[in-house]
Amino acid sequence: MVRTPLVAGNWKMNFDHLEATYFVQKLVWLLRDAKFDYKRCEVALMPAFTALRSVEVLVEADNLKISYGAQTVSVTSQGAFTGDVSADMLAQLGCRYVIVGHSERRKYHPEDDANIVDQVRAVLAAGMQPILCVGESYEERRQGIELEFAVGQVKDVTRDLSQEEVGKLVVAYEPVWAIGTGMVATPQVAQDAARAIRAHVESAFGRGAAQTMRILYGGSVSSHNAQELISQSDVDGFLVGGASLDVEEFATIARLTL
Ligand code: G3P
Repeated sequence: MVRTPLVAGNWKMNFDHLEATYFVQKLVWLLRDAKFDYKRCEVALMPAFTALRSVEVLVEADNLKISYGAQTVSVTSQGAFTGDVSADMLAQLGCRYVIVGHSERRKYHPEDDANIVDQVRAVLAAGMQPILCVGESYEERRQGIELEFAVGQVKDVTRDLSQEEVGKLVVAYEPVWAIGTGMVATPQVAQDAARAIRAHVESAFGRGAAQTMRILYGGSVSSHNAQELISQSDVDGFLVGGASLDVEEFATIARLTL
């Protein structure tokens, strides 16, 4: 099964809409100059809500082949939920992906596997694809339960989903100890986690869902480590944080994924 790699830039709370506009234009020029083949690797940008419209206007106006999406979503659809943004609102802006369950959301917001599954359902119902973030902390790794922990997070969120719904999921294995630390996981660590996640999906939902599911790695990805990581058979791309804020670096990571 050939899975199209996905390189997604999680800008987190960076870039206003003007910076986002400049970034997209520069990224497109860099990839065009490099004769980047979007059929061989999908590139996605995940800006803050306030920059989504700017990205949409650019992508639509220039008929760009870049996908984009949001970094979180409300579990409710509409109504008196101050500050929330619904999946339908994001779909209206042309979002293709929504990150759910990022460790920073789990840390700073009351988000856990129970309401993350509601986010997954909301994203799927709106016709978008969830990027489900899982990954262990340093403590779980020290105890040697890192694979059990990450697979357990996938299990908890997908337990009541259908085979078709799971087949639409993207999973990002992001060990918390590698996020923002420069301590990138070794290719073997990333492969072991992706393999364990894929093996669980196969046993629970069948080979089809397991083989179509793209499993990304996130956590201190850079142009120095991307090639070794993407060479792992079960690693299908990246969810890039800090390095996605540097357009040259992000374009290089995308090119190395081809
Ligand atoms: O979602 C990706 C992000 O958490 C990884 O951050 O800065 O380690 O690439 P970073």
